[in-house]
Amino acid sequence: NFQSNETVKAEHMDSDLIIVGFSQLGSESDWRTANTKSIQNAFSKKNGFSLIFSNGRQRQENQIKAIRSFIFQEVDYIVIAPVTETGWDTVLQEAKQAGIPVIIVDRMIETEDDSLYVAWVGTDKYAEGSRAGQWLEQHLKGKNNDTINIVVLEGTPNSTAQIGRSKGFEDIAKKHKNWNILARENGDFTKAKGKEVMEKLLQKYDDIDVLVSQNDDMTFGAIEAIREMGLTCGVNGDITIISFDAVSEAFDKMEEGLINVDIECNPLQGPMIAQIIGRLERGEKVEKISYVTGKVFEAERASRDRIGRSY
Ligand code: AHR
Repeated sequence: NFQSNETVKAEHMDSDLIIVGFSQLGSESDWRTANTKSIQNAFSKKNGFSLIFSNGRQRQENQIKAIRSFIFQEVDYIVIAPVTETGWDTVLQEAKQAGIPVIIVDRMIETEDDSLYVAWVGTDKYAEGSRAGQWLEQHLKGKNNDTINIVVLEGTPNSTAQIGRSKGFEDIAKKHKNWNILARENGDFTKAKGKEVMEKLLQKYDDIDVLVSQNDDMTFGAIEAIREMGLTCGVNGDITIISFDAVSEAFDKMEEGLINVDIECNPLQGPMIAQIIGRLERGEKVEKISYVTGKVFEAERASRDRIGRSY
């Protein structure tokens, strides 16, 4: 789905459009769809950009191929939402040698050479995990000290969202002797895998009190599994559910009382990235790290809190 080298160059010469190659990691979740749309809207022709979009389908090798293609096409900027944290140095060296500035979005990369990217834009995934833990602390406050059995549905292994949310939550969990993490399983941030893994967990454990699900899509799958087992979840249910993202369908589920709380991860990052490129174009300095902030939404206030939200 790439435009040819010649097409891109011709377009570039014909106009003053800034050419941006965007390697999105996939289309695994509602959150990802909203993130893609936000970036596509921000990099529209009317805003002065020509966007070359590539979907990595959750595979790093696809993303590396796309980045090499952007370099070959001599784009002006490369934007990458990296699927996992490690393994980017070689291809980013190639971009650097070609003189193409790279902006990393959403998830982080692990590198010893931070000159390989000019800026990073995203949410604080560790803080999101801590917020989940802090919410559970408040939720259990004043209750007896009985053991609380927790299962965690984790996202793509070695992704910033998985690493940060796991660590953030576990650092709070460590402080509570009665919090017992029964299992941490990979649900790959998808509804289908979330359902499949939750079914297995429910067959293995008959005493799950809390599900921490690292994104809404896995939560939607897990809710199906819970209900098909004849159990209930959410506000008055057998299993308390803590989810992440806060997409529109999660608000529906909170209004139904099926999800207790949702830790927001704001996908609307396009305008911020476009602003950074605008500054670079004018030769201005840019922040190396820019955080997009997020809130915590509870079922009880979901119908009011969702007003004005666009995803
Ligand atoms: O990196 C952000 C995470 O990736 C979102 O929580 C999830 O829905 C997506 O797949």
